Amino acid sequence: MSQEGIPQLDGYSEDALDRAFAELEKEVDASALEATKRGTSDAVEEFRLLWLGRKQGRLKQVSEAWLKSAPVEARKSIGLRFNALKPRIESWLVWEGWTSTQPTLDAEAIDVTLPGTHRALGAEHPLIKTMHEMVAVFQRMGYSVGVGPEVETDYYNFESLNFPPGHPARDTQDTLVVANQDRKPLRDRLLMRTHTSPVQIRTMEQQPPPVRIVIRGKVHRNDAADATHSPIFHQIEGLCVDTNITFSDLKGTLDHAMKEFFGSSVKTRFFPSFFPFTEPSADVQISCPFCGGKGCRKCKYSGWIELLGCGMVDPAVFGFVQGKQPAYDPKKISGFAFGMGVDRIAMMKYGISDISLLYSGDARFLEQFA
Ligand code: PHE
Repeated sequence: MSQEGIPQLDGYSEDALDRAFAELEKEVDASALEATKRGTSDAVEEFRLLWLGRKQGRLKQVSEAWLKSAPVEARKSIGLRFNALKPRIESWLVWEGWTSTQPTLDAEAIDVTLPGTHRALGAEHPLIKTMHEMVAVFQRMGYSVGVGPEVETDYYNFESLNFPPGHPARDTQDTLVVANQDRKPLRDRLLMRTHTSPVQIRTMEQQPPPVRIVIRGKVHRNDAADATHSPIFHQIEGLCVDTNITFSDLKGTLDHAMKEFFGSSVKTRFFPSFFPFTEPSADVQISCPFCGGKGCRKCKYSGWIELLGCGMVDPAVFGFVQGKQPAYDPKKISGFAFGMGVDRIAMMKYGISDISLLYSGDARFLEQFA
């Protein structure tokens, strides 16, 4: 029998009909098994069309070629056999073997010998990781996390932190300002925050003392990019306000935090410094955690690394908050604040020599921290 056609009928005797239909049945079973081997829903459909297709199906051809043209006497014999053929085909179509060979997937659509699609796992960026770890140190000391906007007003970034307009300390934070703000009063003009300290004021305006918050986030300064400077960088800030907070609380808190983060053998030392919003102010150095203070490349052979700025909250700052929260009365409460650059800490910790790597998004660099 040809692929397309059906066998020739060589007579209408019972024998000849038996032979012809036996051959058809063999063909039905063979094509069904053939389709099973392919095991796809396409194969089942092709099998159905081959036999039951309305226009080209073989049953249709049998009916045209054998039944319709048969002499009247032979029609009953042919019809009986013909009628038995259709259920045989249909029983194949409902046969459970189809589904057990290929329940859900097309076998030919999957080559199980091919390597799978490789999806690399994501990992924390070294900067984010450092921030999380440092923030966690303060959270364990009972600090909660504060957040604030990266686009700030002149008032929150400077004025309320005791940098009046024209104050020279503004020059230490070369500021990126938002364009076309000149018609607004200075205090409302927008800029990219130069430090996380404005969140101190925003937090105190929202809640009365006591306050213990740690703030992490992005800050911007108009610094020319080089190996250690980037116009975008990150800070972690802390603020503690309560009754009877003293400079020794500040020293104890930072000493403990540095030991937690860098290791218990690290020492801290405090030097006088200046920030408009703290009085007195200090810069803090830690003994080099890499060489134990003996001197190495990371501490530039000094044994010490300068890490943060801090001080007691200047009473003038509480004065700015009092309009909204009268409980910030500098006669009754006191506090300390500190701020540190995360990028430098991350670079030191991971031995990264160029800050721009933290912002390049180069997967070959980032993969090393996965
Ligand atoms: N905001 C200061 C800076 O960016 C750091 C600082 C924060 C100093 C809090 C003292 C207290 O330089």
